[in-house]
Amino acid sequence: MNNHLLALGDFSRETLRSLIDRALALKADRKRGLRNQTLAGRTICLLFEKPSTRTRVSFESGMYGLGGQVIFMSAKESQLGRGEPLKDTARVLSRYVDAIVVRTFGQNVVEELARYATVPVINALTDLYHPCQVLSDLMTVLEVKGTLDGVKTVWIGDGNNMANSWIEAASVFGFPLTLACPAGFDPNEAILAKARARGTLPISIVRDPAEAIRGAEVVNVDVWASMGQEAEQEQRIGLFRQYQLDAALLAKADRNAVVMHCLPAHRGEEVTEEVLEGPQSVIFDQAENKMHIHAAILEHFILKGRAA
Ligand code: CP
Ligand code: NVA
Repeated sequence: MNNHLLALGDFSRETLRSLIDRALALKADRKRGLRNQTLAGRTICLLFEKPSTRTRVSFESGMYGLGGQVIFMSAKESQLGRGEPLKDTARVLSRYVDAIVVRTFGQNVVEELARYATVPVINALTDLYHPCQVLSDLMTVLEVKGTLDGVKTVWIGDGNNMANSWIEAASVFGFPLTLACPAGFDPNEAILAKARARGTLPISIVRDPAEAIRGAEVVNVDVWASMGQEAEQEQRIGLFRQYQLDAALLAKADRNAVVMHCLPAHRGEEVTEEVLEGPQSVIFDQAENKMHIHAAILEHFILKGRAA
């Protein structure tokens, strides 16, 4: 069954846009006090190998909000932690639940689970991608800018999992994206090449954050050391210093630019307290939208699976 969400680049613009539109509708319903029950009687398993606050709680809350049930399992407390093969885990969990939401290190892990699972596998962050996060970020851009078309977007910092998913999003939706990364910290080359071949608008890599941010309408930052890179934290702080988003750098962006950060943030590193708490920051809208987009994702993949 090819009904998994492993990377944004696997989907058409229409499918991703329909997920965002559904999330916007679910958000409006919640604000009006309406509760949907589209996943009543359904159960998902969250299988997490890395820490999480937002993704875990927003998937759980999103699922409960649609009438469904959630089982959380940390990978190290499961038999995976004792070496049980992924292919056995995938087939067993598929007998119990309607979808498996996975946060792990290697993209190969979610791919292997998807190969053997007979229910949808959703990527809730790997070292390579964070597709669900970028979908909620796109929803946020749509809310504040009214469109994704031609919205000049910039990424400042590490060419990490978030950067890779933004690159795929830019190529699918066709908005211009500039990434300012220190030498040696560029995004994944193969993802970039594929996105450039598919996309119609430029995806550029530059070294100078001031050059990248000029005229940008959406400014994205993320931690300099991602989960699993804790040992490099100190070294990265030295190498990334000039990539900090402070008020002076933000002043070079479009005057209506919004500042985005998927969180958790390290104030005083990738972004200053002033910018993060400032009027251009939409970080808590992004965080809220995770719940609505996760509900839309679960509904789409679980119900599509049933219809197939
Ligand atoms: N943004 C995000 O994925 O946060 P968590 O690590 O808290 O889930
Ligand atoms: N790039 C970060 C994102 C956290 C949500 C990480 O992988 O740790």
